[in-house]
Amino acid sequence: MTGFAQVTLKLATSLDGKIATATGQSQWITGPEARDAVHTLRARYDVILTGIGTILADDPRLTVRPGGVKAGQQPGRAVLDTNLRILPGAKLFEEGPAIIFHACEDEARAKALSAKGARLVRIATGADGHTDLRAALRYLASAGHARVLIEAGGKLAASALKAGLVHRLEWFRAPMIIGGDGLDVFAALGLGNLSGAPQFRRTSVRVIGRDLHESYEREGN
Ligand SMILES: NC(=O)c1ccc[n+]([C@@H]2O[C@H](COP(=O)([O-])OP(=O)(O)OC[C@H]3O[C@@H](n4cnc5c(N)ncnc54)[C@H](OP(=O)(O)O)[C@@H]3O)[C@@H](O)[C@H]2O)c1
Repeated sequence: MTGFAQVTLKLATSLDGKIATATGQSQWITGPEARDAVHTLRARYDVILTGIGTILADDPRLTVRPGGVKAGQQPGRAVLDTNLRILPGAKLFEEGPAIIFHACEDEARAKALSAKGARLVRIATGADGHTDLRAALRYLASAGHARVLIEAGGKLAASALKAGLVHRLEWFRAPMIIGGDGLDVFAALGLGNLSGAPQFRRTSVRVIGRDLHESYEREGN
């Protein structure tokens, strides 16, 4: 439990829970209606948080489309990037400042990114060697970003789940099968017993274009 941030995980997968093919292609698994719904969803959050894996693979802007929010009310955007691997030319920076959580001592890299509008926030690393998600959420809450939407690959999604930090799931599921060589929506959770599996309660299901949009709340919320 965070006690300081409400974290929702947005997922867009195939029927078999894959987020990309073996070659990393993920655009577009879901259809245009589901993608529009994601923009509407983003507008309800203070900040969109992702991992460097997603930035390097997809180079997303993580904004709400023009018309989806009032001018000046775009949610904040933040990236967990332990070693400052993000490139100064990332599209994220074309849309205004973005927070980059890191644990890197390379001053030259930091300077080049700051010049592009990165707001660099140095935080501790956790036992797994990555930036500490809990510390990042604490920082975001203190900056007025208490409603956090995570849109990431399987690694950050699994970290958030393992740490017990996910309150809601917004799951867009396309009627497509990618197969066992595709990328899993969650990296390993290291569960030995089903009793340790994170449990959620479905709160709604709707058909959206050719896809399904399922919403879940953590059991015991
Ligand atoms: N279908 C979809 O909805 C969707 C959405 C997003 C991404 N994707 C796909 O997912 C793939 C990328 O997957 P990914 O798992 O590499 O992406 P990711 O989860 O976005 O990023 C993972 C990276 O974030 C960094 N990180 C920093 N702190 C972390 C923490 N506390 N926990 C976990 N990671 C942390 C790690 O690198 P460092 O430690 O070096 O910083 C880690 O390798 C791409 O193929 C992309 O297209 C699909």
